[in-house]
Amino acid sequence: MRIGVLTAGGDAPGLNAAVKAIGERALRDGHEIIGIANGWAGLAKDFDGAKLTEADLRGVIGQGGTILGTARFNLDSPEGGRDRVLRAIDEHLDALVAIGGDGTQRVTNWLCERGAPVIGVPKTLDNDLPGTDFCIGFDTAINIVAESLDRLHTTAISHHRVIVVETMGRSTGWVAALGGLAGGADLIMIPEFPVAMDQIVAHLNRRRAAGIVYSLVVVAEGVDLSFLGGTEPRELLNEGIGGVRHATRGVGPFVAAKIEELGGFEVRTTVLGHLQRGGSPSARDRIFATRVGTAAYDAAVAGKFGLIPVVREDNVVLVPIASIATGKRKVPREIYDLCMSLF
Ligand code: F6P
Repeated sequence: MRIGVLTAGGDAPGLNAAVKAIGERALRDGHEIIGIANGWAGLAKDFDGAKLTEADLRGVIGQGGTILGTARFNLDSPEGGRDRVLRAIDEHLDALVAIGGDGTQRVTNWLCERGAPVIGVPKTLDNDLPGTDFCIGFDTAINIVAESLDRLHTTAISHHRVIVVETMGRSTGWVAALGGLAGGADLIMIPEFPVAMDQIVAHLNRRRAAGIVYSLVVVAEGVDLSFLGGTEPRELLNEGIGGVRHATRGVGPFVAAKIEELGGFEVRTTVLGHLQRGGSPSARDRIFATRVGTAAYDAAVAGKFGLIPVVREDNVVLVPIASIATGKRKVPREIYDLCMSLF
C-alpha cells in the first residue's frame, strides 16, 4: 500500500511522534509511506510527497514542530482546490492519514464523504476537538504555561506586582484553565465563563487587603473584549481558514491596562504566544501521539476509512470523523469551578 501522511494547520509538539509511529509501522509491514509536504498545500498544488525512510524517522520522537512541514492553507480560496486534493489522493495514494485540528478534520470529513480513503488524527494545542480527551500538543502547552507561571511567580512576588499572562487557545479556555491551574494562577479568565473587570479588580483588592501584594492573572486570548469594556480591533487578520488571529486582539495588554487603571496596581504583561507551540513534546504527548498514530495506521491497512482515533478515559477508540468535525469542545463548568475555588 502507498500510505500518505500529512500534518495541517498550526504545528504542535508531538506531531513527529505520530508521524514516526505511522511511518515505522508501515515500513515494518512492507508498505510505502509518503510524507506530504506542508499539509493540504502538498496535495492541492503540484503533488509534493516523498517516500519516508527509516532514517527520516530516526530520533524524531522528541523533536518539536513537524518534519513534514505544515501550512494554514485555505482549500476554499481561489488557489485552493478540494477537487485537486481528491485527484491527488486518487492518483498517488491508497490511503491518507491527515493529522490536524478542527479545520483539517472538516476537510478530511468532506473527502471521506466523497469516498476518499482518509483517516484522521486529532491534533490541536487548543484541545477543543469534540469527542476526544486528548489532542496532540495540548499537554506540552499546559506544561509550558505552568512552568512559565512558576517563573513569573518569583518575580511578581519580589516586585509586589500583578502579572497578566496571555495564553493561546482561540475561542476556548483549555490552555488557560488547566495551564493556569497547574501553575497556581491567582485568577483565570476564559471565554466560556466571562467575568467583568470590576469583579477581577475586586478580587485583586481582596488579596491586597489580606496582605498578598502580588497576583498572577491568566487570560485566554479568546475572552470577549467587549464584555470587559473594550472593543474588537477593526482589522482582524484572517488565518486563511476563516478564523480570527486571536493574538492580534491584545487581550493581555488590555486586561493589564484595566487592572492598572481601576485598581492602581503595578502591572506587567507576558504574552506566551508561540513559546506554547515550540520545542520538545511532553512524555504524555509523545505516548498518546504514538497510540493514536498507531491506531490510525491499523485502520488504514484494514481499509476502515472515515474514522479518527480519539482518547476517552485513557482508551484509544475509533469514531467516525463526522462525529468530531463540527462544533468545539468547551471547558465544562466543573473544571472552571475547580479553578475558581482555589482563589
Ligand atoms: O490553533 C492553535 C493556535 O496555536 C491557537 O491557539 C492560536 O490562536 C493560533 O494557532 C495561532 O496561529 P498562528 O501560528 O498561525 O499565528
